[in-house]
Amino acid sequence: MHASEVVDLCRKYSLFEWGTQDVNPLAIDRGEGCYLYTMDGREILDFNSIAMNVNIGHGDQRITSAVSKQMEKISFVSPFMVTEVRAEVAKKLAEVTPEGLTKSFFTLAGSDANEAAIRTARLVTGRRKILSRYRSYHGATHQVLALGGDPRREPVEGGMGDIVRIPDPYHYRCPWITDEKEFCKFNLDQIKQIIQLEGPHTIAAIIVEPITGSNGLIIPPDGWLSGLRALCDQNGILLICDEVMTGFGRTGDWFASNHDGVTPDIMTVAKGMTSGYLPLGACIVSDQIAEAVHDRPLGSGLTYQSHPVALAAANATIPIYETDNLIERSQEMGTYLLNGLNELASRHISVGEVRGSGLFTAMELVYDQESRLELFPLTGPAATADQEMKKLFADEGLACVLRGPYLFANPPFVVESHQIDWALSVFDRALDIADSATASAGAPIPSHSQ
Ligand SMILES: Cc1ncc(COP(=O)(O)O)c(C=O)c1O
Repeated sequence: MHASEVVDLCRKYSLFEWGTQDVNPLAIDRGEGCYLYTMDGREILDFNSIAMNVNIGHGDQRITSAVSKQMEKISFVSPFMVTEVRAEVAKKLAEVTPEGLTKSFFTLAGSDANEAAIRTARLVTGRRKILSRYRSYHGATHQVLALGGDPRREPVEGGMGDIVRIPDPYHYRCPWITDEKEFCKFNLDQIKQIIQLEGPHTIAAIIVEPITGSNGLIIPPDGWLSGLRALCDQNGILLICDEVMTGFGRTGDWFASNHDGVTPDIMTVAKGMTSGYLPLGACIVSDQIAEAVHDRPLGSGLTYQSHPVALAAANATIPIYETDNLIERSQEMGTYLLNGLNELASRHISVGEVRGSGLFTAMELVYDQESRLELFPLTGPAATADQEMKKLFADEGLACVLRGPYLFANPPFVVESHQIDWALSVFDRALDIADSATASAGAPIPSHSQ
């Protein structure tokens, strides 16, 4: 089939996610390393690991062969049966996650891993309320979409009861407290007050992305996550770390919780576990939680959980982080990328802040440096400059994400410095467009500020 025919048929007979059906998708033929190849022969640099999940890069035949070997044996068993791959992946997860996390409940993706985490927390504590952050995203099934503070929650708002939102450790948006330690204490004190006002005995868990991903790549100050851990411990509240996006080396360590030496009670993972080769997630619990649910029915399960073929993909992917030194590579290339982004920031008035940890990086674009007004809105109609930037990326063959004011750069860990250099040269031109929409270029105040 020709690329245009594929696009037409997909438009005619399938529905697309998230937005309206007025879409013009790329027709992808194959992928290799950091590149995607379209059906009409274009080469695209994948600078977002597709959905920040293809950490090991595209087209790794080690995964293909592990998956096909599993399929030659058996493709599906009931979740009540067990397979060698289930045993191996569960053991590996207990080894690579923070000490104390021991048992995995395998799911189909990140969303249902978070559903399982919430359900387990409520079951174990006998409490109902879940605290979550405004700038957070925990998935798109009905309950967890309502749980996250991401504006995408709007259509399902109220879909999950007993949610209380807490403020984010987002230092850039709290400029009146300049000292980072002081800001960290201020934010934790706010959360402490909310816990007291809600009643600690009513709160089952606090769920956080240790580094917020799609809502702006917000890196909390050092000591914030361990401070939150302490608050949870003081109040008998469980800490759930959603590492769906940050897990498996994305932030330069196996898990973002490691940066603050924190073991959550429950950790959820997905994306990097199979590097996107097949859908799989896990809700990983501590010994204490595992013990607590031993005699209490979990009351949850889907036909395709613990799917042997998806587990075979994970079983082949996880060791690659070690054999190919990909965690170190995420650190090393992340530093290279961050330096490049900071250099761009020094020349572009639209860049408010650059944030990064490993190959998890983003720029926040602002209307002017003083007010820090976001240049583009997270919701509503896209600004002209936003559309022009996206067009430039598409024309140049750079796959990256500009979501509201956040320009993300999250390539696969196999990225090379010349690929980063080229992507930064495209960013440079895109930021010229962003600069032209700022106060210093005389552009009008963005309408979303009113
Ligand atoms: C932090 C976080 N949690 C959960 C999810 C949902 O995962 P999935 O789309 O695999 O259901 C995502 C997806 O982007 C995510 O970034």
